[in-house]
Amino acid sequence: MIPSIPSIPSIPSIPSIPSIPSSTSSTLTSPIMRAARAIAHTNIALIKYWGKRPGAPDQNLPAVGSLSLTLERLRSDTTVGPAERDSFILDDIAEGMPGFDTSAAAKVFRHLDRVWSAAHTTPRPACAVISYNHLPTAAGLASSASGFAALTLAAAASFHLDLTGRHDRGALSALARRGSGSAARSLWGGFVRLDRGERADGADCRAHPLFSQDHWDLRLLVVHTAKGKKPVGSTDGMQRSADTSPYYPAWVATSEADLNAGERALADRDLAALGAVMEHSCFKMHSCMLATVPPLLYWNGTTLAAIQEVWEARRQGLEAYVTSDAGPHVKVLCRPEVAGPLAARLAAVPGVHTVDTLAPGPDATVELL
Ligand code: DP6
Repeated sequence: MIPSIPSIPSIPSIPSIPSIPSSTSSTLTSPIMRAARAIAHTNIALIKYWGKRPGAPDQNLPAVGSLSLTLERLRSDTTVGPAERDSFILDDIAEGMPGFDTSAAAKVFRHLDRVWSAAHTTPRPACAVISYNHLPTAAGLASSASGFAALTLAAAASFHLDLTGRHDRGALSALARRGSGSAARSLWGGFVRLDRGERADGADCRAHPLFSQDHWDLRLLVVHTAKGKKPVGSTDGMQRSADTSPYYPAWVATSEADLNAGERALADRDLAALGAVMEHSCFKMHSCMLATVPPLLYWNGTTLAAIQEVWEARRQGLEAYVTSDAGPHVKVLCRPEVAGPLAARLAAVPGVHTVDTLAPGPDATVELL
């Protein structure tokens, strides 16, 4: 049996609209702000981002571009509305409750400041933020991509930004990037490219959609090989690689060629070409991580066993390719008809917890409440 994730309903059956606290409901709409809710899906990089351009840390400028696939079902659902003081509730956990993450809340409020100051010079009004991450429990999949994309979109609508003009999706992508680099890609569904850009103010460092969700019916298998949080977060890890890995300059220098090869393979729907460059980008990134001082080893024994199982299956005619991020899980790209047999093989690898099979996902959406 292949375990699935039945607790994650698909978009049409989203259960509840999070409500803004009733004490503020009389001010749900104002000339300053109104309540808005956004949904953004997570994404997995096919060509990886690892490392930042030096200087301007608040701009969070990646040293390399990246290319991603947005996934169905795995998403963040975030509402921003007026309040008497800033508050943040994540997955029903509010300030003062066990498990509340003060530093995550501080990052959320800091990001609201960025979105607000994109269009206003006055001080930001207080906000209530209510967010749900529909990601498999304890899967170790990063929520920052979908989380900051949904927060950016909800806040932009809430703060009356001009979403069809100056603050279109591209501009919002550049804003989302300041929360987390991978979030810049989650504004769109399907296949997305985030350009490195050249400008110091980051205005040209924004993602754009390459191909929509329907361009190519692929599957991404997420093979969970561990539970719990990763020991070194991406932001710290990439700084350490830039500072100490002798392979970091080579990683940066060769990334643009991988991006272009990946984009070409997507245009041609050439799975062998896409898989080859995707694996190359992944293993180059992990080589750079391993050569960091002290080493960044995100994998465990099951990670390697799962990778080898995919390669063995490929030799036997089940065409599939692996990638892996700053964590122990393995992601496998294949055609839909291969997904079932491959997931069954991977679920049987000792140490594998679950295998989720995901299709390409949709654009981020926003509604006024
Ligand atoms: C390995 O986007 O989480 O998943 O910008 O510091 O928030 P920050 O980093 P983040 O890094 C993602 C790194 C990666 C590769 C990728 O998604 O491109």
